[in-house]
Amino acid sequence: FETGALQGKRVVITAGPTREALDPVRYISNHSSGKMGYALAEAAAAAGAQTTVISGPVNLPAPERVSVVPVTSARDMLEACEQALPECDIFIACAAVADYRPADVQTQKIKKGPDEVHLALVKNPDIVAAVAASDHPVFTVGFAAETQQVIEYARGKLERKGLDMIVANDVSDQGIGFNSEENEVTVLWADGEIALPRAGKSTVAAGIIAQIALRLSP
Ligand code: C5P
Repeated sequence: FETGALQGKRVVITAGPTREALDPVRYISNHSSGKMGYALAEAAAAAGAQTTVISGPVNLPAPERVSVVPVTSARDMLEACEQALPECDIFIACAAVADYRPADVQTQKIKKGPDEVHLALVKNPDIVAAVAASDHPVFTVGFAAETQQVIEYARGKLERKGLDMIVANDVSDQGIGFNSEENEVTVLWADGEIALPRAGKSTVAAGIIAQIALRLSP
């Protein structure tokens, strides 16, 4: 893409998983590596944007010229996003946020006991929907990882969450998406879409950033 396509823009990206505590030593999480979010941060910085990653726990080095705000839970991530929002022009939600968290966090380690235990979960806030619904005008981009009817579900999510753009990928296809090195996505907006060819995550990230730069209202 054009060098400096995002010059002067401030980009905030969520990345990685969240961890939802059960007790002081246990949590619920997922296998997100954070690679796609960090690749997007690198591409945004390369396009000239002032870039921040709000990152769940991952094993990745901070990309050059990118500031990383480490968070743990979904609620931590929402709080960090709300704080970053006044100084944000483009918000990209790439994190695999846990949909639910334990209803109660035990202050002491849960002891082994009965053969069967039941865990009550409550819904976490939807971070990207909250950002899209906020008063602060920000170009909002979400991700949709689907296993079927990928484009239809992604378009539904674009509308329901009030996003400007959504990046859809088929996670039923081994070798792309979660924890892999490659990805293959379709970028959708209100009145158009474009399929990006399968490639390494940094190439796909550059393609997504180029689409954002193209669709951004001036
Ligand atoms: O609804 P679903 O989880 O499939 O939506 C995925 C998109 O929403 C991703 O962009 C993800 O980062 C974002 N999301 C979020 N907060 C949540 C759940 C998902 O920001 N609690």
